[in-house]
Amino acid sequence: MARTALVTGGTRGIGAAISIALKNAGYAVAANYAGNDEAAAKFTEETGIKTYKWSVADYDACTAGIAAVEADLGPVEVLVNNAGITRDAPFHKMTREQWQQVIDTNLSGVFNMTHPIWPGMRERKFGRIVTISSINGQKGQFAQVNYAASKAGDLGITKSLAQEGARFGITANAICPGYIGTEMVMAVPEKIRESIISQIPAGRLGTPEEIARCVKFLVSDDAEFINGSTISANGGQFFV
Ligand SMILES: NC(=O)c1ccc[n+]([C@@H]2O[C@H](COP(=O)([O-])OP(=O)(O)OC[C@H]3O[C@@H](n4cnc5c(N)ncnc54)[C@H](OP(=O)(O)O)[C@@H]3O)[C@@H](O)[C@H]2O)c1
Repeated sequence: MARTALVTGGTRGIGAAISIALKNAGYAVAANYAGNDEAAAKFTEETGIKTYKWSVADYDACTAGIAAVEADLGPVEVLVNNAGITRDAPFHKMTREQWQQVIDTNLSGVFNMTHPIWPGMRERKFGRIVTISSINGQKGQFAQVNYAASKAGDLGITKSLAQEGARFGITANAICPGYIGTEMVMAVPEKIRESIISQIPAGRLGTPEEIARCVKFLVSDDAEFINGSTISANGGQFFV
């Protein structure tokens, strides 16, 4: 029987590419999203992948949403924590609200999604968790104290879960994408985009599909012994 994979923020950008790649690899995929109903409806129409609306920032909504997915598709065996937001501002101008929104979604969201799914994975002695962090969680970034903190925190969660889950057949890994040509990045003024690209040794932005291929490998049986790792997919922009 097909394994069930749940992708948060799975209807747009990198998440959409991940949902599609996992569907094509034979998983029963559920794609979660937060509020953009139009994009979600278009995504389902184009891919046939069912979407589920709730905010990963809300623990109770996650519990209810996961229950709905499991009622439709069976126990979640693969969780991809992809949902993420930015609220950029230089530190002296960053508001507490900007700080909190990013921490609630990018960091607490990973706790809120993983915590309800974890007991079932332990019982079944199988689980694959992949969290999409960021190059800026590894190196920091101007105007992204909130985002960099949240994404660095995701790496801490991943490494700790790996140690707790290993004896239960659960792996937890992270991917740190560099700059990927999603709507968000393509929307920045061309001049800024060019300056970003000039810092990437590969001379181009990454594609959502390149990140999706990393996820597909990490959740596969072939990756059973890879646990607690961070894959940097950034065109050579930054080495840890
Ligand atoms: N793009 C890059 O260059 C880049 C680089 C490094 C890391 N990343 C990380 O990769 C991930 C995906 O980025 P992206 O550029 O593909 O983003 P995106 O195009 O903005 O898509 C974000 C997705 O996450 C969903 N989402 C946002 N807040 C949510 C919440 N509270 N609950 C549930 N879903 C939520 C959105 O739902 P709606 O459609 O309803 O808004 C959407 O489906 C993020 O974690 C991001 O930090 C991106």
